[in-house]
Amino acid sequence: MSNVTVFDHPLIQHKITMLRDENTTVKEFRELASEIAMLMAYEVTRDLELEDEKIVTGTGTEMVGKKISGKKLCIVPILRAGLGMVDGFLSIVPNAKVGHIGLYRDPETLEAVQYYNKLPQDVSERTLYLLDPMLATGVSLNASIQILKDAGCKNIKSVNLIAAPEGIEEVTKAHPDVNIFVAALDSHLNEHAYIIPGLGDAGDRLFGTK
Ligand code: URA
Repeated sequence: MSNVTVFDHPLIQHKITMLRDENTTVKEFRELASEIAMLMAYEVTRDLELEDEKIVTGTGTEMVGKKISGKKLCIVPILRAGLGMVDGFLSIVPNAKVGHIGLYRDPETLEAVQYYNKLPQDVSERTLYLLDPMLATGVSLNASIQILKDAGCKNIKSVNLIAAPEGIEEVTKAHPDVNIFVAALDSHLNEHAYIIPGLGDAGDRLFGTK
């Protein structure tokens, strides 16, 4: 799948293993999720365009350097687990705006229903990085992508810590234009839609609610 990138950087793999471990504390889990998000942000912004900028260096020499062009970025965590990736991502791109999307799954229709949506006014002009630690069934990611597309966004990327093949298939089928970046691609979903081997419930592990 050409629009799916699995990061094999040793630091990311090391931290993902620590994140998965059932003995990892809430504090450590939060720190690790943030650090991995920071490392992933470094990689997923690799294609940002540069433009020339004339400066005078500390030696008084004029030179033409490179700076990221005026391209505007926006990160959008999917509530609530996506919040665990925000600080790490912002440590690399501190000027990015932050939107939020909240979804719950209707127990009868199993469809994702939006309960919160706050996006920057100029969101359609921005490159969007959707953040969600777990790409499981793809239902909430597909719904979030659709919300962003309905808001006029054209350049959308998904950044996930762990993905299941089932979710990747659903999202690439529904939104082949969206690039997906994952730190690990796992084996499968179990009957409760948990990723196996996975790490458990990312929201509970981030916020200590279990
Ligand atoms: N959400 C989680 O937090 N964990 C999973 O394994 C799947 C979805």
